[in-house]
Amino acid sequence: MTFVRSPRVTVFPDSRRAAVVVAARLANAVQSNPALVLGLATGRTPVALYEELARATAARRLDWSRVTTFNLDEFLGLPPEHPASYRQFMEQHLFRHVNIRAENVNFLVGTADPAEECRRYEQAIAAAGGIDIQILGIGTNGHIGFNEPGPALQSRTHRVSLRPETRRSNAELFAGDADKVPAEALSMGMATILQARSVILLANGESKAECIERTVHGPLTTQLPASFLQLHHDVDVILDEAAAARLQPLSALP
Ligand code: GLP
Repeated sequence: MTFVRSPRVTVFPDSRRAAVVVAARLANAVQSNPALVLGLATGRTPVALYEELARATAARRLDWSRVTTFNLDEFLGLPPEHPASYRQFMEQHLFRHVNIRAENVNFLVGTADPAEECRRYEQAIAAAGGIDIQILGIGTNGHIGFNEPGPALQSRTHRVSLRPETRRSNAELFAGDADKVPAEALSMGMATILQARSVILLANGESKAECIERTVHGPLTTQLPASFLQLHHDVDVILDEAAAARLQPLSALP
């Protein structure tokens, strides 16, 4: 019997090498399935991945014209053209570097009626046939997308209040001022994320070591939303050495 351990953890000497390998996997996926449905994340962590993906796209002349994307989340109240919106972040780091069609880019719209927008997004994901590969970062508090730790988690796309530490870690987008970060956001829910056919979570740096240790080895708890990834059968956790510092070696696990 083959025992498949998920999440599968892969540690790279540095985040750039991790980005090159994950970009190659995504480029191969686009090549073998031109109608791939990709779930995408924002934050500092995937920036190198998007750079490498843009590079691989140019080098391999990859065709994105049939690729569909769904981003995880967006700030409530920000229009898509706002410079601090996640929509603009994706334009800058990925979309403008590939020939994706605007109508195949799916985003939660921060200025839409929230309840209606969340319903629309779930329907759009279902209509696209679900997400093939979901890219995730992780907050230092263990959030994925904007599913924040707390007494309960939401399964579907929903409106969420951002925790102070999350607003602080997003301050860079708002000229360093955490008070300017919107207090609320829209986010895919936990089930929306867990229904992706495969998931790739990226984490770099010492500040992520503790939440990564709890994500991989800890009990499932709403206080660390990423721990629920242990329920998924196809999750890769891609780390640099600093983020992996607190993991136990595989041989030491039961
Ligand atoms: C934001 C995003 C998350 C992301 C997190 C980590 O809060 N909503 O999807 O994973 O930031 O950000 P960073 O990669 O900058 O550490």
